[in-house]
Amino acid sequence: MSEKVKVTIDGITVEVDNGTTILNAARQIGGDIVPPAMCYYSKLEGSGGKCRTCIVKVTKGSEKDPRPMPKLVASCRTTVMDGMEVLNITSPEVLEARAGVVEILLINHPLDCPVCDQAGECDLQNLGYEHGLQKTRYEFERRTFERIDIGDKIQLHMNRCILCYRCVFTADQITNKRVHGILNRGDHSEISTYIQQAVDNDFSGNVIDVCPVGALTDRTFRFKNRVWFTKPVDAHRNCDHEKCNGKVTLWYKGEDVLRVTARKDQFGEVEEFICNTCRFDKKATSDWTIEHPTHIDDTSVIASNHYETLKPIPVIKPNAALQAANEIELHKTVKY
Ligand code: SF4
Ligand code: SF4
Ligand code: FES
Repeated sequence: MSEKVKVTIDGITVEVDNGTTILNAARQIGGDIVPPAMCYYSKLEGSGGKCRTCIVKVTKGSEKDPRPMPKLVASCRTTVMDGMEVLNITSPEVLEARAGVVEILLINHPLDCPVCDQAGECDLQNLGYEHGLQKTRYEFERRTFERIDIGDKIQLHMNRCILCYRCVFTADQITNKRVHGILNRGDHSEISTYIQQAVDNDFSGNVIDVCPVGALTDRTFRFKNRVWFTKPVDAHRNCDHEKCNGKVTLWYKGEDVLRVTARKDQFGEVEEFICNTCRFDKKATSDWTIEHPTHIDDTSVIASNHYETLKPIPVIKPNAALQAANEIELHKTVKY
């Protein structure tokens, strides 16, 4: 059994396996003290350490060496030590630095939210809302790129990319061969156009799900609807692809399935990657066994006006018309 160590984050102590990062220790506690993570992805080996949104302040290094760490550290890349004490949302210094990180991430970012398919489920939008400034101090022209169609299913809109490398790790680790990467350095960095060739792979569609912003979008869903007007439902099918378990979320508008995505956990990461056949080729309800409405956190705009469970109100009057009306009335206490 692995050795356990204690770490205290924002005053809450948790015992975790030795070697756990501060971010994952915070995730074990849960709630508001979990630092935002734009590049780390627990399912992708080597991810993290790029965006700095997860920075925290280590006020006590460990029981053995209680000196604080001299600078804020990336919690996704710093492992806990026994007796470590960490501040996240209780440190004004961390919040100010995070606001600075968000400002940098947005320096070249277009004002596309009203027309961006990622709006409503965009980590950068949420981050900007929680930590961003109301206006930019940047006076120079934003860098712009031509949009690139990656086959007929995926579109790369490099203007929105935050260079988190998640899609690169996904192509590297989930597909058979990676044919794209990040070229150049500094503000010349961009996803290589070789990404156009990645479409041949059965798992290439997963780059859409891991992209934290609207840089990689599903062309089969593009501009079809705003995500908060759709109804997500968990479903599965017997997929014969050996690496795909066929468990997905279907996004309905009326009777139509507008898009299919992998299921995401509470941290916005996919639970399991899915193949392109499930994602792009199975858009009929008859292709799927429907399970139940997808749970969506109340904090997400997608939760608005959605019902997780339908419970008939107990009938209290013998009047038949009122009884019928009561039976179809829905409780709005539990949403999805
Ligand atoms: S990627 Fe996110 S922040 Fe950027 S335009 Fe799209 S919704 Fe807005
Ligand atoms: S395209 Fe998306 S996933 Fe890929 S590096 Fe850019 S922001 Fe990250
Ligand atoms: S999530 Fe830690 S640096 Fe990006």
